[in-house]
Amino acid sequence: MKRTFPIVETTTCILIIISTAAPSASTDPSKFTFYKMPYPLSAPCDLCEGPDGALWGDDFAGPFIFRVDPNTSLVEHYQIPYTTPALNITLPPEVGQIIGRTALACAIRPGADGNIYAATGTRNQLARINPKTRKIDIVVSLSVLGNLQPFNDLYTSPTGMWFTMTTANLIGFYSYNTSRVTVYRVPTPVAVPLGIYYASDGYVYFCELLGNKMGRLDPRTGVIKEYIIPLGGQGPAVVRAETPPHAGKKHPYIWFTCSLGNSVGRLDPNTETGEIKLYSNPLLGGIPSENTVDSKGNVWFTTLLQNTLCKIDGNGTVSYVQIPGTILLAPISSPLYFVLAVNYGPGNALWFDLLLGGRVGRYSLDE
Ligand SMILES: *[C@@H]1O[C@H](CO)[C@@H](O)[C@H](O)[C@H]1NC(C)=O
Ligand SMILES: *[C@@H]1O[C@H](CO)[C@@H](O)[C@H](O)[C@H]1NC(C)=O
Ligand SMILES: *[C@@H]1O[C@H](CO)[C@@H](O)[C@H](O)[C@H]1NC(C)=O
Ligand SMILES: *[C@@H]1O[C@H](CO)[C@@H](O)[C@H](O)[C@H]1NC(C)=O
Repeated sequence: MKRTFPIVETTTCILIIISTAAPSASTDPSKFTFYKMPYPLSAPCDLCEGPDGALWGDDFAGPFIFRVDPNTSLVEHYQIPYTTPALNITLPPEVGQIIGRTALACAIRPGADGNIYAATGTRNQLARINPKTRKIDIVVSLSVLGNLQPFNDLYTSPTGMWFTMTTANLIGFYSYNTSRVTVYRVPTPVAVPLGIYYASDGYVYFCELLGNKMGRLDPRTGVIKEYIIPLGGQGPAVVRAETPPHAGKKHPYIWFTCSLGNSVGRLDPNTETGEIKLYSNPLLGGIPSENTVDSKGNVWFTTLLQNTLCKIDGNGTVSYVQIPGTILLAPISSPLYFVLAVNYGPGNALWFDLLLGGRVGRYSLDE
C-alpha cells in the first residue's frame, strides 16, 4: 500500500517581487446573505460547491457535514459515522457526537466521481458523502501513518483524490476505481504539507507550511519538485486558485496564501527555477487562510484575524470588502468572525464561513 518515490529535483534561485497596494475598502450590506447553522456549538469551516449545485461544508467543532441550498436557503446537517481506526467499528451516534467534537475537521472538496470528500481532522480518515442519498462513508483510515495536524487538505484529479498528511510529511492519493491509497514522501523533512491542488496542467501543487516552499508532484512519475520561497517565514498554507498562463506557456499561474507572511503568492512554473511574486494584504496583521478565483480571474482570499474578503485583480491591485457587523477591522477584527474558508460558487458569489459566529456568508458578485 505504501510506495515512495525517491527521485527528487530541487530548485533554488527564484526571482521575487513584492508588490503592495494602497488599501481600498468597500462594503455593501445588501450584497451579503447569512445562513445560521441549525445545530448548537457549530463552527463551520471549509466549504465547497457540490455536484448538486449546493454549498457543502464541514464543521470544526462537531461531527457534521452541512448543506446550504442557495435557492431555498434551507440548511441541513448530517452526522459523520465516526469509526475507531484501531477497532474498525462504527461508534453509536451519541458517542460519535461527543468524540467528534474534538475532531477539528476543516477540508471538504468535490470529487470527480460525483461524490464529495472530507478529511475528518484528528481522526485521520477520508469521508465520502453521496450528495444524492446524503449517505456518509469512511473510505480510508490512515491512523497508522500519523497525521495529527487537522488543517490538512484534499483536491480531486480525474481519477482520484489527492490529500496531504501534514504531520506525517506525506502526500496521499486515493484511487476512485481501486480504493487504494498511494503515498509520496515530501523531500524536505518536517515540511508540514498543508494545502493541495490539482491544476489544469495535470500536476499536483502543494504548500509546505514550515518548509517555506511550494511543491509540485508529477502524477505520472511521482517526481516531486520544490520551489523555495526565498523570503523566509511566509508559511504557504492553502493553494486553490489558478489563472491562465501567458500565450504559448504550458503551466497556469498557481496562487497560494502565505499565512505567516500576511500575503498571497503567485507561482509561475513555466521556467526551470519558477518565479514567485508576493502580494501583501493591505491591512497589517492578518493571517491569510484560503483563496479562490472568480469567473473574471480575480483571486480572492480570506484572513483569520480580519473580517474581510480580499481581492487581487488582473492588474495585481489588492483591495478588500468589509464583512457587515464589523466594529473594528484591523489588526484584529472585533467582533472576530474567524473567516477561514472562501469559495467561489454556487452561483456568481463568494461563500465564506464565520467560524466563531456559527454562520456561513454569501457575497454576491453580481453588479
Ligand atoms: C437552483 O435553481 C437553479 C435554477 O432553477 C437550478 O439550475 C439549480 O440546480 C438549483 N440549485 C439547487 C441546489 O437545487
Ligand atoms: C473494516 O471492516 C470492513 C468490514 O466490516 C472491511 O471491509 C474493511 O476492509 C475494514 N477496513 C480496515 C481499514 O480494516
Ligand atoms: C475506472 O473504471 C471505469 C469503469 O470500469 C473505466 O472506464 C476507467 O477507465 C477506469 N479508470 C482508470 C483510471 O482506471
Ligand atoms: C486594470 O486597470 C485598468 C486601468 O485602471 C482598468 O481599466 C482595468 O479594468 C483593470 N483590469 C483588471 C483586469 O482589473
